[in-house]
Formats: sequence, C-alpha cells, structure tokens
Amino acid sequence: MALIEVKDLITSFDSKVVHNGLNLEINEGEIYGLLGPSGCGKSTLMREMVMLEEYTSGSIKVLGYEINAIRSKEAQKLRKKWGVLFQFGALFTSLSVSENIALPLKEYTDLSSKIIDEIVSFKLSLVGLKQSDAHLYPSQISGGMNKKAALARALALDPKLLFLDEPTSGLDPISAREFDDLILKLKDMFNLTIVMVTHDLTSINNTLDKMAIIDNKKIAVQGDLNSVLNTSSPFIDTFFKALK
Ligand SMILES: Nc1ncnc2c1ncn2[C@@H]1O[C@H](COP(=O)(O)OP(=O)(O)O)[C@@H](O)[C@H]1O
Ligand SMILES: [Mg+2]
Repeated sequence: MALIEVKDLITSFDSKVVHNGLNLEINEGEIYGLLGPSGCGKSTLMREMVMLEEYTSGSIKVLGYEINAIRSKEAQKLRKKWGVLFQFGALFTSLSVSENIALPLKEYTDLSSKIIDEIVSFKLSLVGLKQSDAHLYPSQISGGMNKKAALARALALDPKLLFLDEPTSGLDPISAREFDDLILKLKDMFNLTIVMVTHDLTSINNTLDKMAIIDNKKIAVQGDLNSVLNTSSPFIDTFFKALK
C-alpha cells in the first residue's frame, strides 16, 4: 500500500523551477531514498511532504490525505503521525536532550509530566543513549549522539513515518554505521516507513529498499540498488562509480 503518492508535482520559487512533473510512490514498510545532485530539490520535496513548504501544482498524498487541500484540524492530526530529522539544527540548543525529546509530547499530547518522563527515558534507551545523557545540552555531546537524540525526538509520538534528511552526513564512519544499524532496528521494531535523503553510499547500500534519483527536475530512475546500478546516466555513473 502506498503511504505517500506524489503526482505531477511542480515546485517553483519565483522563476526558478525545482520540480517539473515529479512522480513517485512510497509503500508501507519501505526505507526509501531520495538521491540526486546537490540542489536538485531533495530537501524541498521532503519539506513539502511534511507540510513545511508549499508546492506550486500537482498532488502529494500522505497517509491518504491530499496535503494541499487538508483542513487545519486534519493537518494537526497528521503532523503527529510522522517524525522528522532535519539535516541542520536537529536539536534546540537551548534545551537539554530530555527537554528536546519531551517537546513533541508537550506540544501534541496532554500526558502528565510523569508519563512524559517515562516515555523520554524509553526513547533514550531505544536509540542507545544513556539515562545520564538526558540532562546534557546539544553542545556537550558528540555529533553521533546529537543525531541519536534527534531521532529519539522524532520517535517521541510513535510515528508510522519517519523523514530523515542526510542523517549520516558529518558523522564519522563508525557513528554513521551505528546510525544505519539503528534505523534498521527501529524500522523492524515499529514497522516504520522511512523516507531518507542521503548521499552516503554505504548507507544507501546498507539501508535502502528503494530509491529515486531526482535529476533534471523529475525522477530519473526509481527502484532498488541493482536496478539503479543497471541504469546509465551521467549522475549515476559518477555517483555510483565505487559500486558499479
Ligand atoms: N524557500 C526557498 N526559496 C527559494 N529557493 C529555494 C527555497 N528552498 C529551496 N530553494 C531552492 O531550491 C533548490 C533545491 O533546494 P534543496 O531542496 O535544498 O536541494 P537539495 O536538498 O537537493 O540539495 C535550490 O536551488 C534552492 O536554492
Ligand atoms: Mg538538502
């Protein structure tokens, strides 16, 4: 079943056209990669899917809702069903790790602070952080720990859908592989559907079930790694050189 359907999507900023007739479907239970050259509109597409950016025309359906036509009450309901990990500024620097993770629970639920503390503590352990990390601030922890904490926050409301924008970029190789393993574990535990922007070849190889390559404002190729490797384009030939 398709949890996300993008049809004939056009996105333009003033005169700059970013997507021009982009189509894709993401099925339940998949880890789906968005790939392509820098500036091709990967982050923009992801931001459109989570209602942080408006598109010009076409349609994006997420969990059955046409998000351009959604009423504000439904939009609020929908926002609770996904978690997002942005590439930059993943955590609020003025809040501790536990305050960051508690934020969506405070904003979207009326759970008591005792229950919220318990959920925060559970999410910390899920992503492999220690309870003693809870009171630390983002500037006091490593890049890998920042990403784990941001992931714990994205998982705070038990989402069905997880959006990750370049989660391993800037991490050292060991932390990056740890993050891949964590994603696979969480996907299995919670039957998550994951949309991930990435240009990390190892991560692509380790985690993605399917991927779409955005090139020339639309999807150039879509499929699993093998079918992408069997396709030739200047971007694919250069980007996947090490795997081809
Ligand atoms: N809010 C915006 N206003 C104007 N241009 C934007 C905006 N957001 C993104 N863009 C432009 O859209 C293009 C795609 O950006 P982005 O989605 O961030 O690319 P990617 O994530 O693939 O590197 C870039 O040229 C960027 O400058
Ligand atoms: Mg980007």
